[in-house]
Amino acid sequence: MPGWIIPPPKAQTKSRAEFQQERKEKVRWLVAQGYLKSERIREALLKVPREEFIPPAYRDYAYREVPLPLPGARATISCPHSYPLFYEPLGLDRGHRFLEIGLGSGYGAALAREIVGAEGLVVSVEIDPVTYAYAKRNLEAAGYQDIVLVLGDGGPGCPEWAPYDRICLTAACLMVPPPLLEQLKVGGRLVAPVLEGSAQYLALHEKRAEGIEKIILCEVLYVSLRGRYGVREVS
Ligand SMILES: C[S@@+](CC[C@H](N)C(=O)[O-])C[C@H]1O[C@@H](n2cnc3c(N)ncnc32)[C@H](O)[C@@H]1O
Repeated sequence: MPGWIIPPPKAQTKSRAEFQQERKEKVRWLVAQGYLKSERIREALLKVPREEFIPPAYRDYAYREVPLPLPGARATISCPHSYPLFYEPLGLDRGHRFLEIGLGSGYGAALAREIVGAEGLVVSVEIDPVTYAYAKRNLEAAGYQDIVLVLGDGGPGCPEWAPYDRICLTAACLMVPPPLLEQLKVGGRLVAPVLEGSAQYLALHEKRAEGIEKIILCEVLYVSLRGRYGVREVS
């Protein structure tokens, strides 16, 4: 799988109406490609203005299938298809208690907030203080005041709001940190990019009374998890 080629920074030229049109076209494309099936996830993707979670120098590329750089160390907003790629197999739905490890831009948390609705809960953890501050500003500006934002290492999870119905890691790990599986309800699901050799696979984990069932979904390419359960980077 090739690495991502990030387009060059440039001044924003597109209007609000142009972004809205691109958002609608992207949602149609996600349905046509088979990434997007659920009506709640579709509505969320149509509603949340992705461009407002992207730094101005990359905003014109908001609906391109590339991850884009964010303030902070190696942080990116994932490419548009990543969100249904994670949320569809999770079966993220109304009323769920959802934990995200890797807040990034805040866009994934905003989508999740729309999907789980007022009856649900979204908790998102970010390890990088610069990225965290950026996401917090984005979410406040977009009117999301009821997402629990935590600055710190998400590897140990967030026990004060556990148990969770659904958990996702948006950074690649060698193995899912055991505290996250502990904080998942029986019947709950967790999605994470997991490293195997030099490749990464998106893996769905379902917690049963008898143990964890793991299914590999597809090959992916994500930034590495940092912190206590992180992947040591070779620089
Ligand atoms: C692909 S980006 C997240 C994309 C994000 N979900 C969005 O919608 O923009 C991965 C993020 O995980 C963060 N991260 C890496 N290791 C982490 C850890 N142990 N705990 C919390 N966040 C972590 C990175 O700093 C980065 O912001």
